[in-house]
Amino acid sequence: MDDAGVYKISNDIALVQTLDFFTPMVDDPYVFGQVAAVNSLNDVYAMGGKPLTAMNIACFPKNLDIEVLSLILKGGHLKIQEAGAILLGGHTVEDNEPKYGLSVTGIVHPERVITNAGAQPGQAIVLTKPIGTGIISTGIKRKVADSKSIDEAINVMTTLNDKASKAMVECDASACTDITGFGLLGHMLEMAEASNVTIELELSLVPILYGTLELAGKDIVPAGAKNNLKFVENKVGWQKNVDNTYKEILADPQTAGGLLISIDSKRVDEFINLLKEYGVEGHVIGKVIQPTDKNIIVEGK
Ligand code: CO
Ligand code: CO
Ligand code: CO
Repeated sequence: MDDAGVYKISNDIALVQTLDFFTPMVDDPYVFGQVAAVNSLNDVYAMGGKPLTAMNIACFPKNLDIEVLSLILKGGHLKIQEAGAILLGGHTVEDNEPKYGLSVTGIVHPERVITNAGAQPGQAIVLTKPIGTGIISTGIKRKVADSKSIDEAINVMTTLNDKASKAMVECDASACTDITGFGLLGHMLEMAEASNVTIELELSLVPILYGTLELAGKDIVPAGAKNNLKFVENKVGWQKNVDNTYKEILADPQTAGGLLISIDSKRVDEFINLLKEYGVEGHVIGKVIQPTDKNIIVEGK
């Protein structure tokens, strides 16, 4: 599955449409609104598109202070504005647990749509944000995450992929997806399968959020990471001894994660420099090779 649906309406314009909403992963409703909005807007950026309009979708319990809902929506609106999009409306229903997200409509040139199916052998694989937000969110829920790891995770989750997307379009990236619920391995597997290639991932090059390794070492790991790992495990060739803690980190479900990009290796330095110019830290984490019996090969530490 690609991150968003694309519908061509003329030779110059295709619509990019997406919808995402979920339950809070942080305590602060204003921050939660921002994270949920970024997560939704990022699916348009993952296709190389530009968000134009957004609509709120929210669920809210009867017994909760309505001010909380207003803070969630305010946080979302902040990120819609930052993306240069316009909020057109939305809908809220009563539910036991709060939920929030956006339906976003964007545009892209029909010939410049970047899907997850374009990765080619010889290309470099780049990731634009560190991973670990699922593990740190679990640490927040269990009240064991320290303030530095919480701050860094929130910073990552409230950052739009707009600049990363702009840079990848300018450098003619071949394939892209954003890292969300299936974790780095799950989304990488989707790219490898859609592109009919194998991706070699270098574990030591993967950027990991501060505090993630410590929490994962104490088994503060969301059930989703374990499920993701089970799902991908036999499609991954684990070279050397990759510790189970690292396997779970690679499978950790992300919220509003970075872009995973496949790009011509001759242009990867230019791309990393352009990302830096835009204030985005890009990491080359692996390369694309001819298809093998495994979709992903993980080189150990
Ligand atoms: Co996505
Ligand atoms: Co999505
Ligand atoms: Co309505």
